[in-house]
Amino acid sequence: MKLRAATIVILILFTLTIFGGLRAEAKSKMQKQSFGKTEDGQPVDLYILTNKNGVEAAITNYGGTVVSLKVPDRSGKLDDVVLGYDKLEGYADGKAYIGATVGRYANRIAHATFTLDGTTYTLAKNDGDNHLHGGFNKRVWSANDVSTSVGPAIELTYLSKDGEENFPGNLAVKVVYTLTDQNELRIDYSATTDKDTVINLTNHAYFNLAGQGNGDILQQQIMIRADRFTPIDATSIPTGELRSVKGTPFDFTSATAIGARIDQDDPQLKLGRGYDHNWVLNSGTTGSLALAAEAYDPHSGRVLEVLTTEPGIQLYTGNFLDGIRGKDGKLYNRRYAFCLETQHFPDSPNKPNFPSAVLKAGRQFQSTTVYKFSTR
Ligand code: GLA
Repeated sequence: MKLRAATIVILILFTLTIFGGLRAEAKSKMQKQSFGKTEDGQPVDLYILTNKNGVEAAITNYGGTVVSLKVPDRSGKLDDVVLGYDKLEGYADGKAYIGATVGRYANRIAHATFTLDGTTYTLAKNDGDNHLHGGFNKRVWSANDVSTSVGPAIELTYLSKDGEENFPGNLAVKVVYTLTDQNELRIDYSATTDKDTVINLTNHAYFNLAGQGNGDILQQQIMIRADRFTPIDATSIPTGELRSVKGTPFDFTSATAIGARIDQDDPQLKLGRGYDHNWVLNSGTTGSLALAAEAYDPHSGRVLEVLTTEPGIQLYTGNFLDGIRGKDGKLYNRRYAFCLETQHFPDSPNKPNFPSAVLKAGRQFQSTTVYKFSTR
């Protein structure tokens, strides 16, 4: 009798241990692995953040880049919904800013020049006559595990020296990626400078909610909470006008398939070779976190909500993707992904009527964007 009781107790303890173990398995975590070395020998790592639902975000400190993002479809099947490269070399050689943290000034500055506090600064012309995006995406950032009960989190920091790329001020930049159990990838940006400067930071993830490399995104739907957009000139610089979207192919105030109007005979669509424009978010410049856009893939059921504190968002429909060889040997052709780049408006340093992108010496820049995944 005594022996049987002991056996039962042992069995119960055994079961509890197993279940305890399983529970621990389902907890969120962060793993670090090598992602290779840059050409000049700097080691680079990959940080794999997993939440309790099995959602996984892989982030490298090379360019502060989101390398992969695995989220469930309607039936619970995980797929990687962002474009990327298998290896560091892909990011080092790439020209499309795939998944990267973009700065010092995300998007375009006309004629690669601006004047601040009476001094004129001349930047590199890397997009025709204009400056586009800056070089943060090709730098090795310092990384620090800052996980909390909210979820696994990686803090990336980079010091952009006074005069780097000809921008003024030593700019200390911090980007924190947090993966929450609500299936959100949260990005908190902050920065300080010792001289007045301009700053515009974004993430350049290329999304395909049907899975990376799985065809074009023309049937995926987008909603943008914006009644106006900033029309562009022939070099993709905003004209300065804030134009109503009403009656135009830029009206995404209700969810519409990306491809529904993309090839219409519209002068703005022609200039962008599709959508490559900034929308003026209705949430304005309050700086509070608000829903900016939502994307939906009717086939997989995946929903992506984009929340931000920024006043603008660039919808770019991968118009320049031209057969890039990406992860798992997949080819990325034209319009195989869309980007929703939260930002200050392009060319703000030269547009006094746009929300200011100036960061004053000694002040702190702060901005948050959340990519939240669910299904429907
Ligand atoms: C941004 C720009 C596009 C293009 C991509 C990168 O989204 O607006 O015109 O340059 O970056 O290819």
